[in-house]
Amino acid sequence: MTTIFPKDFLWGGAVAANQVEGAYLKDGKGLTTVDLLSTGEKRFPMMFGEIENYTPDKKEFYPSHEAIDFYHRYKEDIALFAEMGLKSFRLSISWARIFPNGDDNQPNEAGLQFFDNVFDELIKYGIEPVVTLAHFDIPVHLVKEYGSWKNRKVVDFFEKYAKTVFTRYKDKVKYWLTFNEINMLLHLPYVEAGLIFKEGEDKQQVMYQAAHHQLVASALAVKAGHEIIPGAQIGCMLAAGMTYPYACNPDDVQKAMDQDRESFFFIDVQSRGKYPGYAKRFFEENNIELKIAAGDEELLKENTVDYIGFSYYSSRTTSTDPDILKNHTAGNVFDSITNPYLEASEWGWTIDPKGFRITANQLNDRYQKPLFVVENGLGAIDQFGQDKEINDEYRIAYLREHIKQMEEALKDGVEIIGYTSWGPIDIVSASTGEMKKRYGYIYVDRDNQGNGTLNRSKKKSFHWYKQVIESNGENI
Ligand code: BG6
Repeated sequence: MTTIFPKDFLWGGAVAANQVEGAYLKDGKGLTTVDLLSTGEKRFPMMFGEIENYTPDKKEFYPSHEAIDFYHRYKEDIALFAEMGLKSFRLSISWARIFPNGDDNQPNEAGLQFFDNVFDELIKYGIEPVVTLAHFDIPVHLVKEYGSWKNRKVVDFFEKYAKTVFTRYKDKVKYWLTFNEINMLLHLPYVEAGLIFKEGEDKQQVMYQAAHHQLVASALAVKAGHEIIPGAQIGCMLAAGMTYPYACNPDDVQKAMDQDRESFFFIDVQSRGKYPGYAKRFFEENNIELKIAAGDEELLKENTVDYIGFSYYSSRTTSTDPDILKNHTAGNVFDSITNPYLEASEWGWTIDPKGFRITANQLNDRYQKPLFVVENGLGAIDQFGQDKEINDEYRIAYLREHIKQMEEALKDGVEIIGYTSWGPIDIVSASTGEMKKRYGYIYVDRDNQGNGTLNRSKKKSFHWYKQVIESNGENI
């Protein structure tokens, strides 16, 4: 059998600045929202933007402060990625490394230089950088001073940041993503958009206004990217995963459709260039009044994304039956009930490879643009065996089944340009802040409390993924 993967398919791995870099205040970087997220009890209320006090507490452990020290070890890590044969590497730029406060007049040269060094190192090995402008970190100053994305002024600061990095890296980076998992804004408003709610504030009103600002900022970035970078490919990024109705009862089907639309809303604007009818109805029925400035609608219409980036970990399931709704499962923050046909990970995330094919088809049918799978993977606990190796067969099995289903989607005629699995090297978990929730092909010696040598070692999956890439998906 010959491979169906295109010959220039972008096999790779993906990370986010705050989950790998560490060096959280080094070389002029400013404090970002995620730097205030500790592990332990305080993490969750904070993630949901429900506490007022967001000053770091010396007694708590903040995993982003050192993370896996990619800031100092990127050469060693990229050499390992090259050894695995990665064709692409997705990473994010931390806004606060470039503009420490977000509203500074001049960018921070040391921050710009750091990313120059990283991109040069990738290019040296022929690895294509894929860069996210905002992946769950916003300069804290913008939150304190302006209320973050609640405030229209933040759109201008973001545009300036985007133009700065586009200009600086225009010869090095062609693939960009604007906001990571933009639909997470409705689920993790602090993490995705730095939103902290004041007492009495209408959360929905605030979130959708912030969403409008991000959508405008995203369109401005698309516009600037196309003007500044020859051949730029600028994508959006959806936390995807289709919602199944638990029963064929039309009420369940309607609910599943509505739930999917909460997420599609963002991509409908970014890819189709206008607010969908169902959103307008939702706003009306919920007394949400968006302030839309003159020119916004044209801007959204004229600056749609080039490709649809998405993460896929799980499908979701919903029901209208109160008894069935009690069977709730974790599933990447999204509300879902347990699907009796499927297994779940140690963290309760439903494992559904076929759902990956279905989701890819759904996105293809809806948007008719190239897809880029920019996250997929299994968070699991790894242990060294007696042979001092990590035989992570469970991870290989998860990835193998998902890659097989991606192949099916290609056979269905879906255009997919790349696949960057999440966390090719172990990193800090975004949801829990843990290190023990590992995704990597490369093990990092560090535990949940920050103990360990930070040494890197190859897991069994390292060799497996290398062979997948070498054979362009044939040998899985
Ligand atoms: C996605 C995020 O939601 O899921 C990543 O874009 C995150 O930042 C990934 O790490 C996996 O989630 P977790 O909580 O297992 O790290």
